[in-house]
Amino acid sequence: MNTFYITTPIYYPNAAPHMGHAYTTTLVDIVARYHRLIGHDVYFLTGTDENTEKVVQAAQKADKDAREFADENVSNFKEFYSDIEIAYSQFIRTSDEEKHWLGAVAMWKRLVEAGDIYKDTYKGLYCVGCEAFITEKELVDGKCPHHDTVPQQLEEENYFFKLSKYTDAIKEKIEKGEFRIEPEARQNELLALLDAGLEDVSFSRPKKAIPWGIPVPGDEKHVMYVWCDALINYISALGYGTESATLYEKFWPAQYQVVGKDILRFHAAIWPAMLLSAGLPLPHALFVHGFILSGGKKMSKTLGNVLVPQEFAKEYGGEALRYYLGRHINPLEDSDMTEDAFKEAYNAHLANGLGNLTSRILNMVEQYDIDLSDMMMPDKHDVLSGEEIREYHDAFEHLEVNKAADVIWGLVAFMDSYIQEEQPFKTIKEDRSKAEQDILFLVERLWEVAVLLEPFMPETAEKIQEGIKEGKKPENLFPRKD
Ligand code: ME8
Ligand code: MG
Repeated sequence: MNTFYITTPIYYPNAAPHMGHAYTTTLVDIVARYHRLIGHDVYFLTGTDENTEKVVQAAQKADKDAREFADENVSNFKEFYSDIEIAYSQFIRTSDEEKHWLGAVAMWKRLVEAGDIYKDTYKGLYCVGCEAFITEKELVDGKCPHHDTVPQQLEEENYFFKLSKYTDAIKEKIEKGEFRIEPEARQNELLALLDAGLEDVSFSRPKKAIPWGIPVPGDEKHVMYVWCDALINYISALGYGTESATLYEKFWPAQYQVVGKDILRFHAAIWPAMLLSAGLPLPHALFVHGFILSGGKKMSKTLGNVLVPQEFAKEYGGEALRYYLGRHINPLEDSDMTEDAFKEAYNAHLANGLGNLTSRILNMVEQYDIDLSDMMMPDKHDVLSGEEIREYHDAFEHLEVNKAADVIWGLVAFMDSYIQEEQPFKTIKEDRSKAEQDILFLVERLWEVAVLLEPFMPETAEKIQEGIKEGKKPENLFPRKD
């Protein structure tokens, strides 16, 4: 059986999950469910990035103990994930000393053995918001453009990683297609960075500056830089560096690692360089999606345009949120989202679209007493190998889940117009056998829709399939919202 390993970034648990986190995780969940549907052996990893100043600072602000604060937010993540049916295989926390820390230490030792770690002084800027060393050039009015904050001025003795050494090797992997960055525009962005040349990067912080973190092997005065620590999660979660590395053996290298455009550099340069240094295979592909904007702007508390995913899930249902993120956000570029657009899409495509269509068809079955018991619904494998849904598979091939969803709603539109034209609700009076044939045809198409829908809306897919098996329409599929 084909294995399929896919990951999300591990998010900072310095607050409850926001719409961006909801997006990436839903995108990955949809893709993971698709691969399960077509019979692959899937492993889906997500989690939290905890050994960081960001979490400590947020905890202080909330007047809480940092560990408890992180625990609370991890519960927020898990609870929300269950509301939106995120079926991860594992939720890794980098505070997990049993597993993650062992993997991180093992990796660090490999980097040392490769001669890629050396001591030097870092003198320059650090943005806690980015958890990154930044340069004067990147500042706008003396502030980090991403966080609008004045960076820290650091001068500290650190261990450095020889990132510069891997510039050409990474380029070669990309050119040979052994490490794909998708979409192509993102790959070009990275190639431009490589052409400018990569600089070595500070890979540790003084322990006295960072209250928690993974101790550097052999030097207790230092802890690993949070990005060095965090990136390793993708293999430490699989048991790399521990005695039980069977998941690592089975699933690494990943088929897809999925991240937002904000952390391209870390995943397309630093991470592959670390793997090359350690002599480990690179992931097959890195997929870099765009950002969700709210009313055309970056979400911010000051602008008051923050979209809260928990509120959408509560008001419209977790499945409706999955639908919107899956179909109306374009993973290849930035996409705008507003509650008005959401409500409009909900009413048009779920309440009046899929919901109404399902009721109409199953209503006719009930009302005209159509016997479905002799009807064999095509098995999932047959549905999935149908020639007319080639586009659905092609879209999933490169994570364009929005296009795969369009195929489903294309079928919905086709069925709506079929009912409009054939009018089985009228012909039933003059020509019962024709009406019956039309209804059976529609039921079969609806069954196909319900199979293709599984990755996007697993619960709705099941309700429709149950409805067909029982010849009864599901209750209250998507009540209209005004
Ligand atoms: O960067 N639209 O964590 P983070 C879409 N801990 N996606 C968005 C988004 C938006 N407006 N905003 C954020 C970190 N995201 C590190 C990662 S991985 C080894 C360590 C998503 O909590 C997107 O996936 O800041 C982005 O890359 C991620 O959240 C950043 O999450
Ligand atoms: Mg961030």
